[in-house]
Amino acid sequence: MQRPDELKINYCDPITMTMLMTPDMANFSGKVHGGALLKILDQVAYACASHYSGNYVVTLSVDQVYFKAPVQVGELVTFYSSINHVGNSTMEVGVKVIAENIHSGERRHTISCFFTMVAVDAEGNAAAVPEIKLTTDKDKQRYIAASMRKQLRKEYRDRVEEIHDKWTENKANLSSEEMDAWIKEHAEL
Ligand SMILES: CC(C)(COP(=O)(O)OP(=O)(O)OC[C@H]1O[C@@H](n2cnc3c(N)ncnc32)[C@H](O)[C@@H]1OP(=O)(O)O)[C@@H](O)C(=O)NCCC(=O)NCCS
Repeated sequence: MQRPDELKINYCDPITMTMLMTPDMANFSGKVHGGALLKILDQVAYACASHYSGNYVVTLSVDQVYFKAPVQVGELVTFYSSINHVGNSTMEVGVKVIAENIHSGERRHTISCFFTMVAVDAEGNAAAVPEIKLTTDKDKQRYIAASMRKQLRKEYRDRVEEIHDKWTENKANLSSEEMDAWIKEHAEL
C-alpha cells in the first residue's frame, strides 16, 4: 500500500504514549495492577507495529515481562516503543516504561519488554513488512540485540518442546523411583 508522505512521517520513528494512572487501574494494595499495564503495553506494541507496517497486526508473543518497581496510582507513565528488527512479516517491538511522580518529578524505569507482532492482511494472513532502515548507531545496536533475542526465542521454544515431550508426555518413560531421584537431586531449584 502506498502511503501519503506530505506530512513527512518517518514510519521508523519511535512511538511514545503518556498516560496518567487512574484509580480504576489499582489493585488491592493501591498500586497499578500488573494486568492493566500489560494491556497498555500490548496496545502500544500494536500501535507501533501497525504504524510501521501500514497494516493491522496481531501479537505473536511477548518475552518475559519483569516489573522492576511498582507503579503508583497518580503517576504519569510514558511508554517508549521502537521497531528493533523485522523479518518477512514479523516485527520485534521494544517497549520501555518510565513512571514519573508528578509532584517530585522523580522518574523510574519500571518495565522493559519485547513483543513479536505479525502484520496481517484483510484475510488475516501474514503480510510483508517494509525493510528496516538502520540509520543511527542506536538503531544498529537495537537490531543486533533483537537478532540475538530472536535466536534465543528459537532455542527456548525447542527446549520447552523437549521438556514437554520428556516430562509432560513422559516419553522418557521414567519410573516413579527415577523421578524421586531427580527431585531429590534438584531440590534447590
Ligand atoms: C501470527 C499468525 C497470523 C501467523 O500465521 P502463520 O500461518 O504461522 O504465518 P507464517 O507461517 O507466514 O508466519 C508468519 C511469521 O510468524 C513467524 N511465526 C509463526 N509461528 C511462530 C512461532 N510459533 N514462533 C515464532 N515465530 C513464528 C514465522 O516465522 C513468520 O516470520 P517471518 O514473517 O518473519 O518470516 C497466526 O499464527 C495467528 O493468527 N496467530 C494468532 C495471533 C493472535 O490472535 N494474537 C492474539 C491477539 S492479537
